[in-house]
Amino acid sequence: MSGVSGSYYGPVTTPKRDSVTIRTIRKMVRDGQPFACLTCYDATTARWLERAGVHVLLVGDTAAEVILGYSRTIDMPLEIAVALTGAVKRGAPRALVMADMPFMSYQADAAEAVRNAGRFMTEGLADVVKVEADQSHAEVIGRMARAGVPVCAHVGSRPQLAGLQGGYSGAGRTPKEAAKVVEDAVVLEKSGAVMLLVEAVPAEVTDEIMRATTVPLIGIGAGPACHGQVLVLQDLVGMTDEPPRFAEGVAKIGPALQAAGEEWVRRVAERRIGGAGYEMKAGGSIRAAGGGEQKRGVPGGRE
Ligand code: KIV
Repeated sequence: MSGVSGSYYGPVTTPKRDSVTIRTIRKMVRDGQPFACLTCYDATTARWLERAGVHVLLVGDTAAEVILGYSRTIDMPLEIAVALTGAVKRGAPRALVMADMPFMSYQADAAEAVRNAGRFMTEGLADVVKVEADQSHAEVIGRMARAGVPVCAHVGSRPQLAGLQGGYSGAGRTPKEAAKVVEDAVVLEKSGAVMLLVEAVPAEVTDEIMRATTVPLIGIGAGPACHGQVLVLQDLVGMTDEPPRFAEGVAKIGPALQAAGEEWVRRVAERRIGGAGYEMKAGGSIRAAGGGEQKRGVPGGRE
């Protein structure tokens, strides 16, 4: 693969020396060092989260809710998910970027599932793809793995099944259900998953998964023991009105954004827009030029 700077194959797809890769994550697990994962859906936010040292950025299908305004994750369009994944990787080339495969992009047909996973890797620049899965997905995860796609299997509570189950809920809360979640994790690791993610299960279920499997385990609402932890960014930073019970916020960006919007409304009303203005260039004339010239450009290059 070419490392020519500025080419499509250059800075983004050639792993940087200090990039987080699946090897980095495995080493952190061996060293007993927890890794941090957050959802992310755009390049600018990705840049800040990478600067913060977040190891894994998950382009979750929660984008359907927090970005596109739907009330269900199953409404996430595949094309948009691929595009957002690429945006996140371009914003955070050193983070490990995980793409969540949307509803019906991997369930209906195994060959289509492998092709869609491939799109996340090539067009979307993803490092890993995630699929909500149980043992019935062992075959398709195996096919993806054999095709060279690193897969994270998402077990426990699976939001894409909310319609079937009558809403979002915890998982593994009876001995029978708990055994099934653990068994799912074991089978999916055997089928080729390089990582597991478990959502909304009692801590005992997490402990049992960790005893029974060897790959890095990311948890969300699954107790503190997991190797890595993930939250939806908007829940963490106080932008959602009703965050799930397991999401403890660390900031109040929603109210801060509202205050910034209100301040802008006031300034506009009072004609106090601030910032530097433009002047006519020397010798320029309003009639000849038809107004000032404006440059638009890449992030960091705006004038
Ligand atoms: O889509 C998503 O954001 C997720 C997390 C909640 C784990 O799958």
